[in-house]
Amino acid sequence: MGRGKLILIEGLDRTGKSTQAGKLAERLGPNSQLIKFPDRSTKIGGLINQYLTDPAFLLPDQAIHLLFSANRWEVAEEIKTHLLKGSNVVLDRYVYSGVAYSAAKGVPGLDLQWCLQSDVGLLKPDLTLFLTNQGSELRQGFGEERYESSAFQQKVREQFSTFFNDFEDQSYKQAHIKVLETSDKSIEQVHDMVWSTTSAFMQEYADIQDFMYF
Ligand code: TYD
Ligand code: MG
Repeated sequence: MGRGKLILIEGLDRTGKSTQAGKLAERLGPNSQLIKFPDRSTKIGGLINQYLTDPAFLLPDQAIHLLFSANRWEVAEEIKTHLLKGSNVVLDRYVYSGVAYSAAKGVPGLDLQWCLQSDVGLLKPDLTLFLTNQGSELRQGFGEERYESSAFQQKVREQFSTFFNDFEDQSYKQAHIKVLETSDKSIEQVHDMVWSTTSAFMQEYADIQDFMYF
């Protein structure tokens, strides 16, 4: 039996990531796992939650970056164990959010290169579906959490794109990262795109055995 596949749903805030990650995991069947980052339920996740929701809770940008990264390391072994048992794992955000949101702050020294270091050694997704919604960052209706503003989301979008273009190996990018434009599409229509892309990938790459790492 082959190992399971690691499938990541990425994107800006308010692009429907969590909805789509949930629907994909369901469609993949009871043997699949859904893991969301940040995982606010751990001790580290509790600090992250406090940082995101309480404007008076201050942390140096480097420190919160490392907490987001540590939150991924907390479950790194668990993810690998699921994959080795043959389960598919769906991630809702992961390393790309980690680097793009922190680098978007524009803090001197906190560039993409620096931000990636704490995630080096984590498993790379077999497939990343990057949900983009033309101008989603310009829309109204963001919540109250830190980072949820149009101006900041625009910067995050730029960092995602720089990372995919300049930091990812282009042959990896071509095979393993798919951008899905979701503007004006219903949840079901986006799910159809997510599913057709995922099932085509799973057929083409049915027998990947080696793991890839950041
Ligand atoms: P989000 O997916 O929006 O969580 P929820 O669905 O619970 O609101 O993530 C919360 C915020 O954290 C979001 O603005 C993106 C940001 N983030 C980082 O800055 N770094 C990271 O490594 C991750 C995973 C998320
Ligand atoms: Mg959010």
